[in-house]
Amino acid sequence: MICLGVETSCDETALALVQDGVLLGEKLASQENLHALFGGVVPELASREHLRKASALFDALFTQTGIQSVSLAASVDVVAVARGPGLLGSLLVGVNLAKGLALGLGAKLVGVNHLHAHLLAAGLERELPFPSIGLLISGGHTHLYYIRSPFEFELLGRTLDDAAGEALDKAAKMVNLPYPGGKYIDVLGSRAEPDKALFPKPLTAGDGLDFSFSGLKSAVARYVSERPELVLPALPESALPDVPGLSLYCASVNWAVAKTLSVKAGLALARNPEAKALIVAGGVAANSMIRRELTDLCAKRGVEAIFPSRGLCTDNAAMIAVAGEQLARSGRFHGFDLEAIPRGRAVPLDYVR
Ligand code: KG4
Ligand code: ZN
Repeated sequence: MICLGVETSCDETALALVQDGVLLGEKLASQENLHALFGGVVPELASREHLRKASALFDALFTQTGIQSVSLAASVDVVAVARGPGLLGSLLVGVNLAKGLALGLGAKLVGVNHLHAHLLAAGLERELPFPSIGLLISGGHTHLYYIRSPFEFELLGRTLDDAAGEALDKAAKMVNLPYPGGKYIDVLGSRAEPDKALFPKPLTAGDGLDFSFSGLKSAVARYVSERPELVLPALPESALPDVPGLSLYCASVNWAVAKTLSVKAGLALARNPEAKALIVAGGVAANSMIRRELTDLCAKRGVEAIFPSRGLCTDNAAMIAVAGEQLARSGRFHGFDLEAIPRGRAVPLDYVR
């Protein structure tokens, strides 16, 4: 089975082809530099960029994989598209492109939950064991799931306010590091040992599985306002500066997030001892300290820690294609009335079998 994946839910335009769980090729255009000028994603610009890039990426993907346009209709069995959650205008570009392609290629259509796809991405690199606990950590989401199978996700806990990536990005912005700042916190933070008591780890004392990062944000803002010397004078160009105290700040913020995640993931594993692994995904899963912390947690609990390689952590179409292929294999599809689901609305399980 060949599945074409389409991803346009936020600020990456991406297309990928997967055949029987193997990635044949992928093309991705990131809008990161554009949105960095505004310090965050501007939804209207994101939709326009998706419109501008999608067709060219489609052509480039088929050139790359050597599939000629004449054999295209015969090769693609399924078109899978990220149908939400995401920015509505951005999602609509991908969903409508996917509908047009499915119609034109005579392929089946399936809408994929972007969050579930993140957690299934590692399936391109190894077999995923089920049931498992899933921890999705991105710029917009911090979700803990019980994953019974590739189609059965039960939400155990979620952030009540900011997402883990958002907390790191805001901490980076406060000291004038470029957007999105998570990776700069990672790089600078690896130059110092964290002060583990410097910042709070909200909600980690209780036994609930929800997260909260807004208290950390306030504590970080207070800390920076008392230490203006930490704020970089202008956005650094290429080399990251060695401002005294900045690495300690980054390491300590990173620690507060890493420890919060490992406490909650540990609780979820303890309550579900039959879970075989902790699957971690989303852009923040690229973070070195978080990987280390969660790997240690899993070693102590005797379960596997599974992370996709860094390229598969951030938004991509390979994860949409591999998740879509699994849905298609199980007989789950959508009709051309497939709806895009914006952030804030639950993604329905409205498959046509
Ligand atoms: O999953 P993703 O690409 O997009 C969505 O939010 O859906 O995640 C983006 C997030 C941003 O907050 C970014 O700062 C964070 O992932 N990120 C990192 C790292 N690389 C990306 N955070 C910490 N350490 C990193 N190395
Ligand atoms: Zn994402």
